[in-house]
Amino acid sequence: MSKAKRIGVCTGGGDAPGLNAVIRAIVKYGRGQLGWEVFGVEECFHGLMYPDTKSVWPLDLPSCQGLLGRGGTILGTTNRGDPFGTAEDGRCYAEIIRENYDRYALDGLILIGGDGTQKIGHRLSTEYGIPIVGVPKTIDNDLEATDFTFGFWSAVDVATDALDRLHTTAESHDRVMILEVMGRTAGWIALYAGIAGGADCIAIPEVPYDPARFIEKIERRRKIGRHFTIVVVAEGARPMDSISLEGVSGRRGAGDTLTELLRAEFAQRDDATELRCTVLGHIQRGGSPTPFDRVLATQYGVKAVQLVESEGWGELVCLRGGEITSVPIADVASAPREVDPQETLLGVATSVGIELGGEIEPA
Ligand code: F6P
Repeated sequence: MSKAKRIGVCTGGGDAPGLNAVIRAIVKYGRGQLGWEVFGVEECFHGLMYPDTKSVWPLDLPSCQGLLGRGGTILGTTNRGDPFGTAEDGRCYAEIIRENYDRYALDGLILIGGDGTQKIGHRLSTEYGIPIVGVPKTIDNDLEATDFTFGFWSAVDVATDALDRLHTTAESHDRVMILEVMGRTAGWIALYAGIAGGADCIAIPEVPYDPARFIEKIERRRKIGRHFTIVVVAEGARPMDSISLEGVSGRRGAGDTLTELLRAEFAQRDDATELRCTVLGHIQRGGSPTPFDRVLATQYGVKAVQLVESEGWGELVCLRGGEITSVPIADVASAPREVDPQETLLGVATSVGIELGGEIEPA
């Protein structure tokens, strides 16, 4: 058996359901089975960056009780603070991180976070000699390295439930209901939740939309006696460049914009159709992970410990073709994984009559 290790665990970026389940798996396997010492680092690197105000503390088995189904992260997380910025004493924060890392005599860090956090980890590893194993995280599921990130299916579950609820109220009032979901650059949540929740229209960032196509869909539905319509819009979705936004008052978000564009179009047609927009927001990130995300998070946690055990530093745990494996953190693409226009699911969506607002290339 390899020598017992002392490892730190950090969670960085926006929270996602399943973070605690990863932490729990690391502690249960690393501490419980291998006898290692596991330390939680508060708010990503802040526990090592700001030792006067933030903490690093040992994680034992009792501290992980009840964590599997608990949302958020017991370590806290942040997407603020620059580990390569300059501290008050003139040093680079990364030097302070290294100093405190040495003070705790750590053998390495397991870094649970999205591509931004992993890039920071990679720099800390190559420039400051801190060994890192990465675990990918984002509810957006837009990391190239892995088929699925934990948290994604939990977000889809919440959005699907919201769509089910909107269906009954939309149908009762003969309304057009628009649901804005997360996804600034990639429309995965909108696409999966839209299909799972029986949406009639889906707008994603990858397919700029023409509101007229949504109106036509609404009218086609009316002709078959369906007097309500459900639209899912990703927060990064936008109309085609040719669509004027002049006179559109609600420009705060994609849901408001689409609602206003449809409202204006209906007004021109003297059509009194009622529209309502719901912005789901951070509800998608809160609460308990789904069983899939709990299992995936547990697999990721165990794999991360196995990588540390075999000195597989610099690797990022991932799921590829149903197999838990790893890729070099250095290879983590900087561009997010967007919905490919040839994505099979887009074809599935249009095959069941979902209007995407623009042309897609057939797969
Ligand atoms: O990347 C995850 C995510 O939830 C995005 O879907 C969303 O656009 C963003 O984070 C929200 O960030 P914040 O919590 O900082 O408002």
